[in-house]
Amino acid sequence: MPKLRWSPVVCATLAAIVPLLEQVQAPEPNPNWFPKQDMLTIGVYYYPEAWPKSQWARDMENIRKLNMEFVHMGEFAWYFMEPQEGKFDFDWLEQNVELAAKNGLKVVLCTPSPAPPIWLSRAHPEILMVDAQGRRMEHGSREQADWSSPLYREYVTKIVTELAKKFGNDKRVWGWQIDNELSHYGKRFSYSEAATRKFRDWLKEKYGTIDRLNEDWGGAFWSQMYQSFDQVDIPNEEVLVADPSPHAVLDFRRWFAHEAADYLSMQASVIRQYAKDQWVTTNFMSMHGDVNPAYSAKTLDVFSWTHYPVHGELQEGPLGFRLGSGEVMSFMHDFMRSFNGLSGSMELQPGQVNWGEVNPWPLPGAIHMWLLRAFGAGARLVCTYRYRQPIFGSELYHKGLAETDGVTPSPGGREYAQAMAEVVQLRKHYDPNAKEPQDYGARRTAFLISFDNRWDIEIHKQTKRWNTEAHWMRYYRALKSVEAPVDVITADRDFTKYPFVVAPAYQLISQELVDRFTAYVQNGGHLVLTCRTGEKDMRGHLWEGPWAQPILGLIGAKIPIYDDLPVGVNGHVTAEGKSYAWGSWGDVLEPQSGTQVLAQYADQFYANRPAAITRKLGKGSVTYIGVDTLDGELERALLRRVYQAAGAKPANLAPNFIVDWRDGFWVATNFSSEKQTIPAAGNPQVLVGSREVDPGQPAVWVER
Ligand code: GAL
Repeated sequence: MPKLRWSPVVCATLAAIVPLLEQVQAPEPNPNWFPKQDMLTIGVYYYPEAWPKSQWARDMENIRKLNMEFVHMGEFAWYFMEPQEGKFDFDWLEQNVELAAKNGLKVVLCTPSPAPPIWLSRAHPEILMVDAQGRRMEHGSREQADWSSPLYREYVTKIVTELAKKFGNDKRVWGWQIDNELSHYGKRFSYSEAATRKFRDWLKEKYGTIDRLNEDWGGAFWSQMYQSFDQVDIPNEEVLVADPSPHAVLDFRRWFAHEAADYLSMQASVIRQYAKDQWVTTNFMSMHGDVNPAYSAKTLDVFSWTHYPVHGELQEGPLGFRLGSGEVMSFMHDFMRSFNGLSGSMELQPGQVNWGEVNPWPLPGAIHMWLLRAFGAGARLVCTYRYRQPIFGSELYHKGLAETDGVTPSPGGREYAQAMAEVVQLRKHYDPNAKEPQDYGARRTAFLISFDNRWDIEIHKQTKRWNTEAHWMRYYRALKSVEAPVDVITADRDFTKYPFVVAPAYQLISQELVDRFTAYVQNGGHLVLTCRTGEKDMRGHLWEGPWAQPILGLIGAKIPIYDDLPVGVNGHVTAEGKSYAWGSWGDVLEPQSGTQVLAQYADQFYANRPAAITRKLGKGSVTYIGVDTLDGELERALLRRVYQAAGAKPANLAPNFIVDWRDGFWVATNFSSEKQTIPAAGNPQVLVGSREVDPGQPAVWVER
């Protein structure tokens, strides 16, 4: 590679080269990648580049002795793969791939793009991202590269090409992970010239003329008009005196997520040029909102994500901080699995971590429970970060499967070994003809999320008491407590096959989606919409008409008032004689005739006016819950009512006691702080745990 210095000419040339690469869509998944009867497989991250060669064979053997079935390597090893520009060294990796194979371990290899080597950053500092304050990030950590830089993409293409040439046609290598938790962590976005240029190109493509951009961005407000696309910068609050246009920020968030997806697609295309029968994934972060996995739905073969449930955050109940949230974990499984059924956690915590503000131990047994949760949720793989606890570097206090001596299994290591051994036993009970229980299937629900909504609400929350993800979780909790199987999907997918659809806080809405909702309900679907829905069009403009105009005909009510309350002031809502507190959002509803009121405000100047309503429409029903309560108990009660009214026999499980069915097995995991009883009918055969499930414990049973 000739040494190119960044210049507009060079950039333009490279920008022209990079898109020439054919962007290959994911082919049909090969059923042999994840044999159905294996159900779940578990593996671990190993960093041979960090340990003496003399220990590799021992470590790989010990990984196998912990029952692991695969090993994951390489995501930060660029320096070792290409110690000097153009000089590649894969011998060390080859030796480890061979050691893995000898031990019967499959191998996941990673592209090393999150950690560019020093020679590259020194020769071409322009490949490094620029933060909001205009500072170029330095070598000395990770995720500092700017994936909008055409030059960086060139270097990435070269290393990934060499790696894929070497291992793409290699039966020992099972699959590939692209990059690592694609993001710039706390710095979030790059404001570099390269990023700005690509953002402008994207806008040009989207709007065609600057007049259209001015109109959609509301340029008439505060004289924010542009005369050409070249004048448009990335909206950056660090250099603006007051708020930027929310429409500009919304477009920027969309572009950023598309740019990330484009980068994944570029790397996937390079791998697929050489890879024979190997799958491709990336490890998205749990609940992360900057990169949208749905934009990579056609690029990836496997959908994986990273999860660290216990890192010092308080959760519900006295044991919550040691158990994590079962609902968040389950939600992420339901999101990742929904793309094509090949999913799992690529990093699941092995013990204490080092990066929380405080870092408590998970409750003994909790790790084992998390693994069984993955099993219940239909995951096909779980990998843990990492095998050995590091004895140098930035993550010293982070546990691994092995302690600091490199050989002794840690408590978490023993729980991984136990879970994998149990899965191996469960495989013996696998029944390819197992039929999903009818009552369970009758509750199948599509949970509709939209990153546009998430971004738009974050841009202008209206109240700091609002939290979109917490709002989602209140509904998700309600669904898991009625024991509904859930797929978390985006609206580009078909939701008509689901008996129930829940679309929380769906702020930006198109007429096309309202029409799809209406047809769905007319044909017998049960739709639940919640506060903050339909307020804006897809540009983020309010309607020139009544509040939430497009959905009013569907929900059978008007929304003349919406309110939010100061911190320290709570309002109340009553439903069926019970009172519920709220503070973050309340839509006051004005129902038309034929619409039934489910809950009413109990105070404020709109006391006695409706907060939640339902109506029959065609063969189905629409329910609108206009208030966001503090603890989600109203939402839980109302959803139960919706399922009951639809004849779907809702269960009534305690919050955070998650039960689901997979391949013939019922799985319960108790993330609550109280003992729970499995909701088994008849005389179940309990294969793991017992009928009474203690906090932090799982149970697996079959009913045949
Ligand atoms: C993840 C990251 C890993 C490691 C881990 C520590 O977010 O992908 O590389 O840093 O955290 O918990």
